[in-house]
Amino acid sequence: MTTATSYPILTADAAAALINDRDIIGFSGFTPAGAAKDIPTAIAQRAIAEHDAGRPFKIGVVTGASTGDSLDGELARANAVLFRTPYQSDKFLRAQINKGETCFFDMHLSMLPQAARYGFLGKIKYAVVEAAAVSDDGEIVLTTSVGASNTFCHVADQILIELNEAHPAELSGLHDIYEPLDPPHRREIPLYSCGDRIGSPVLKVDPKKIVGIVKTNRPDEVGGFKEPDEVTKQIGENVATFLAGEIKAGRIPKEFLPIQSGVGNIANAVLGALGANPSIPPFEMYSEVIQDSVIGLMQSGDIKFGSATSLTVSPPVLAEVYANLDFFKARMVLRPQEISNHPEVVRRLGIISINTAIEADIWGNINSTHVMGNNLMNGIGGSGDFTRNAYISIFTCPSVAKGGAISTIVPMVAHLDHSEHSVQVLITEQGIADLRGKDPTERAREVVDKCSHPDYRKQLHAYFDNVKDGHTPQTLRTAFAMHEAFMKNKDMRGVDWTS
Ligand code: COA
Repeated sequence: MTTATSYPILTADAAAALINDRDIIGFSGFTPAGAAKDIPTAIAQRAIAEHDAGRPFKIGVVTGASTGDSLDGELARANAVLFRTPYQSDKFLRAQINKGETCFFDMHLSMLPQAARYGFLGKIKYAVVEAAAVSDDGEIVLTTSVGASNTFCHVADQILIELNEAHPAELSGLHDIYEPLDPPHRREIPLYSCGDRIGSPVLKVDPKKIVGIVKTNRPDEVGGFKEPDEVTKQIGENVATFLAGEIKAGRIPKEFLPIQSGVGNIANAVLGALGANPSIPPFEMYSEVIQDSVIGLMQSGDIKFGSATSLTVSPPVLAEVYANLDFFKARMVLRPQEISNHPEVVRRLGIISINTAIEADIWGNINSTHVMGNNLMNGIGGSGDFTRNAYISIFTCPSVAKGGAISTIVPMVAHLDHSEHSVQVLITEQGIADLRGKDPTERAREVVDKCSHPDYRKQLHAYFDNVKDGHTPQTLRTAFAMHEAFMKNKDMRGVDWTS
């Protein structure tokens, strides 16, 4: 690709000066990987200046998923966010959302791009997209994520590019950009195995829409991962034991199936445990994020291929990938989130989904997003895209939080993200609850006996053991008594169900 010479080169401030109050912007970024950095920071500064001058200035912020501090953090601190979707993990923004100061609506990540195309999010005026290279005829090499950048560029009136020298132009070939047609013209997605390439290695846009390029050299703001502790290690080993048992029982084909793994430290530990288990053959991933542990497992041959929408690895691991780019380009592909998370493909490929819960109830319902029912943590992310359509859907979590004062196993989840109809297996460090083919009371026994912390087992049994009312022996009067006990006494232990 020849490097572009025809677009105006702008400073980040000049780019920010193009943005007006109440504009809706589609920013690149899926996790901090590939997120726009300089332009959102400059927009935040513009917002502060406008506010100081007594003028309103807030923008609609639409992204692929979470981003880095220079996007979500800067804009939140500048009080510049009119609304935000679909997923965030920034502590400043989260605080504003939970105080009711910023509007946030959560979405399944696979559905965000089509919602943007259908006009459900309002008119997206600018796409602000990080690139490793751009040509005069509008071919863009994206960086460490695709996310929804392709859709933002297509639906936006105008495009601003952050050309980031921290990413080599040789990234070209890592991406596979494919966007489905909209109903009534949509066809099947022709993807039949994890490594299939069905689109273009570059994002093609109308060059007339590119209003300027901001040059920068900044690394992705991806933090490191905690070393697995005893609890996360045990959860990982339990997942590996469960899956090895399923292969042995013939319920998973012996060549195994592609793995989807969620975000965070538990997910990292789970993948490490799968790689270390001799009964699990080398496997492929069809997931949304490639994290640190995947890179090591590719080098050891335990992971054969990874399809995702972002390469979210810590800086030293990214340096390792860039130093061996040919090796990794042969083993991974980054797709739009609409494809990496698409229910059709997830169901077809027979994905084994492994995601993390905030809390689970004894019937198998999962809360992934809200603490004590009220406070948003991050969002549903892709967990619903995968869980609802998986070959086997697994949720993991530690059995307790906050030093044991919170049981993550409760009589009724305080917020519902994944229902008992979609959740097949629950795994904590205590054990494995296999919910397939079990009725509600059998599920409750399985979850409490296998997954809850011993401090809470008797108490949870007392909740349902002697209730003979209905198919699901739930007691509405006391279903949230453990949550209420925590809010009152900062401890869920010792709830008396009769009071
Ligand atoms: N009640 C109250 N607080 C709880 C809790 C509960 N039941 N369970 C966990 N917490 C707290 C922890 O104590 C911790 O608090 P701290 O930050 O003050 O220490 C915090 O929640 C995060 O817990 P942690 O165990 O570190 O979780 P994590 O980093 O593994 O993240 C989720 C867990 C659920 C928040 C995260 O996986 C997520 O956002 N999931 C939804 C999206 C998703 O699944 N994406 C993947 C799809 S591909």
